[in-house]
Amino acid sequence: MKKKKIILIIGGGIAAYKSLDLIRLLKKRECEIKVILTASGKKFVTPLSISALSQNKVYQDIFDSDREAEMDHISLSRWCDIILFCPITANSMAKLATGRADDLASTLVLASNKQVVLAPAMNVRMWLHKSTQNNIKKLLDFGYLTVGPSTGEMACGEYGEGKMSSPEQIYEFLNNYFSERDIVKNKNLKALVTAGPTKEYIDPVRFITNNSSGKQGYEIANSLAKFGVETTLISGPSTLQKPENVNIVKVETADQMYRETKKLLPVDIAVCSAAISDFKPEKYETKKIKKNTLNLNLKRNIDILEFLSKHNSQRPKLVVGFAAETNDILKFATEKKNIKYCDWIVANDISDSEIGFNSEYNAVSIIDGNRVEKIEKNLKSYIANKIAKKIINNFTQ
Ligand SMILES: Cc1cc2nc3c(=O)[nH]c(=O)nc-3n(C[C@H](O)[C@H](O)[C@H](O)COP(=O)(O)O)c2cc1C
Repeated sequence: MKKKKIILIIGGGIAAYKSLDLIRLLKKRECEIKVILTASGKKFVTPLSISALSQNKVYQDIFDSDREAEMDHISLSRWCDIILFCPITANSMAKLATGRADDLASTLVLASNKQVVLAPAMNVRMWLHKSTQNNIKKLLDFGYLTVGPSTGEMACGEYGEGKMSSPEQIYEFLNNYFSERDIVKNKNLKALVTAGPTKEYIDPVRFITNNSSGKQGYEIANSLAKFGVETTLISGPSTLQKPENVNIVKVETADQMYRETKKLLPVDIAVCSAAISDFKPEKYETKKIKKNTLNLNLKRNIDILEFLSKHNSQRPKLVVGFAAETNDILKFATEKKNIKYCDWIVANDISDSEIGFNSEYNAVSIIDGNRVEKIEKNLKSYIANKIAKKIINNFTQ
């Protein structure tokens, strides 16, 4: 934690007083802290206590008349390694989820590309309200991390979920966050992720493809990059936006994907989530085939997962495959893992129209040796973060 630069935003909740203890804990570990206090936060803790503990000025106003040219929302965002909003109120969660920027705290978060960590604190009914639950889903989808809330007795006398994590728990969370990334950085980990469908051309206008959007693979590349892994995404046709800090190589056919994969070796991690067409036309017709003459013969496509898993000189240390099945999911996925020789298989059920192909949601089972780890239905970004975290643990523990 030494010398880590932390922006701490304190919102207007009763738990704001706990942030003072957190500042002390972080200062003991020689972190540099700059604090932003929301207007409501000021009703709960004073700028004087905060500046005495953080040994820095407290930022309160987006329109600071002494520092008009400074644009604190930009300079603070550039300065820090992480932004911790603690406590974050239901109100501020709603603002961040909808992209509002009407004070220094919300403007800074919107203007930043640094990791944002939220420590929610509120009454149990506020926390469980559909509106707050929808907001937290959105915030997780933006890639923000959460610590807490926990369950317990609250200042309002009620009992339930919504209690802010303790300063010690939040400190531990930050400590793990930074140490994981420091280990990844020292190991110089490299990953390749394949994603999306492929197009196998029959003639200049027709092709075989499938319904994959590439979303799960894009999210995994995004999560790995956020852990500090040097990540390249080899993407079949997809309309998705390139994740930040990820190198991208765009391809159309399975053969192109294979060539680009070979070029990228050696890597430490390979995640093969692309829905590569199993078959391609035996012969590509250079001229458009006439309507009444079509006779389509197919042949097997190259299997990139098997190629990587069985590579004798440059096999990635960890090869993760995907199995999209409609029935007997675990049985077929385990068979696939054994035939292909990959280390883990991530299996999902594509017969369920609410998850998988072209959905924002997924539900998967990761088969790792004899262990099966289930991740229940959730946003693909959440599932990706879980998979990336398991990959990182594999290299850091
Ligand atoms: C005594 C008191 C305690 C409050 N505690 C909380 C709380 O723990 N969590 C919360 O979300 N809102 C709480 N509120 C409501 C917020 O202060 C209010 O929604 C405010 O607009 C939040 O502003 P901010 O998000 O800019 O900090 C409390 C209000 C009062 C008067």
